[in-house]
Amino acid sequence: MLDVSKYTNDCVAESVVRPRVATLKASMILRIVWQVRDLVATGKEVFNLTIGDFDPKYYPIPIEIQEAVTKAYRDGYTNYQPADGALALREAIDEMYQRDFGLHYGPDAICVGSGARPPLYATYSMFVDEGDAVVSFLPAWNNSYYTQLMNAEHIFVPTSAQSNFHPTVAQVESVLPKVQLLVLNSPLNPTGTVIDPAVLKGIAEAIVAENQKRKQTGRRPVMMLFDQVYWMLVAEGYTHASPVQLVPEVAPYVVHIDAISKCFAATGLRVGWGVLPKEIQPKMKALIGHMGAWAGHPEQIATAHFLRQPDLMKSYMSDMRQKVSMRLQLLYNGVMSMKERGLPVDAIAPQGALYLSFYVGLIGERFPTNEAIRNFLLIEAGVAVVPFQAFDMLEESGWFRMSVGTCSMADLSGALEKIEKAVQKIIS
Ligand SMILES: Cc1ncc(COP(=O)(O)O)c(C=O)c1O
Repeated sequence: MLDVSKYTNDCVAESVVRPRVATLKASMILRIVWQVRDLVATGKEVFNLTIGDFDPKYYPIPIEIQEAVTKAYRDGYTNYQPADGALALREAIDEMYQRDFGLHYGPDAICVGSGARPPLYATYSMFVDEGDAVVSFLPAWNNSYYTQLMNAEHIFVPTSAQSNFHPTVAQVESVLPKVQLLVLNSPLNPTGTVIDPAVLKGIAEAIVAENQKRKQTGRRPVMMLFDQVYWMLVAEGYTHASPVQLVPEVAPYVVHIDAISKCFAATGLRVGWGVLPKEIQPKMKALIGHMGAWAGHPEQIATAHFLRQPDLMKSYMSDMRQKVSMRLQLLYNGVMSMKERGLPVDAIAPQGALYLSFYVGLIGERFPTNEAIRNFLLIEAGVAVVPFQAFDMLEESGWFRMSVGTCSMADLSGALEKIEKAVQKIIS
């Protein structure tokens, strides 16, 4: 057996790989996940609230998808499909967007990929050129890796708890003239907050106005990437809307990014899509095709089958929302009772996705950084959370993301007890 590593030992990635790629960083969340794994291996009990994924024990994928995938494999649906996805799936997505958003795009305006990421990457590739600028509002699920790959500039605009961690219209208006792509996500990872439709409408109007100006000078329009992968996971009392529903004139500039990953607890099945002007869709299709980043044919067939049964979908989603919302509410109520008992903690009432924004007011001499608080919570309380720094918000704000996708109700009660004990010890 030839041990190839003997010949590659001297190979240094940094001197071989283009700097743009060699300097891509691993996600901070993954680094925390590895630390948790190491701790668990030493026998420590850890309540892991870090991962934006689901434990199938609590959140199985829809049974209809499970059965239809298996059947599709058995029935021989195992060949190449068009690069933008099987027509049956694009038709099913189109019907869903008509039903749930009142938007009729048509199947030619939809491009399927292996999860949300390939359509996301394709969106950057279509609109962001070397030297261009992209803007996202912090905290944000990191897209800046894609900007780096385009050799472009990423502008980060911090938001605050006062605006639910979404941008204001004024923030958008002041940055729009500088950028080619504006990235928005709602319900938002990491905060679990939903953008106010009135604010989204204002943002969409600002994009239309900016592009009217650009038309006169011949400058390329600014585009909006609207990542709505959590749109079915919205808590009661909150409304999710597409910018195109609110301002139809913004349609030429919007790419919706969507997937089954989060709403159907199907992160490993890899089915996502972009919904965009049908005049631009062939370019996304070409990119996905060249990457070979299409979804598996059986998974596409099964997703189409499920999307075409709105009643079953509604019932699955209602159960899913209930499970997520019970857990988020338990955490939120627990944090608020600690606050009432005088502990320096806070949270934002859950609005959507599977996350809670959790605040620990301990920044100071003893804990100068979020990272110090995170380590304290992990080592002292055995509770793993993710600081907002993992979402590009560098300020030492005391804000953390808690995710409820892999925990039982009992786990969450246990985590709350441990947090209370640990924080109490510090302040008394
Ligand atoms: C806001 C957001 N968009 C996109 C994705 C990527 O989804 P997928 O796994 O379908 O590529 C994630 C994953 O965490 C996310 O949180």
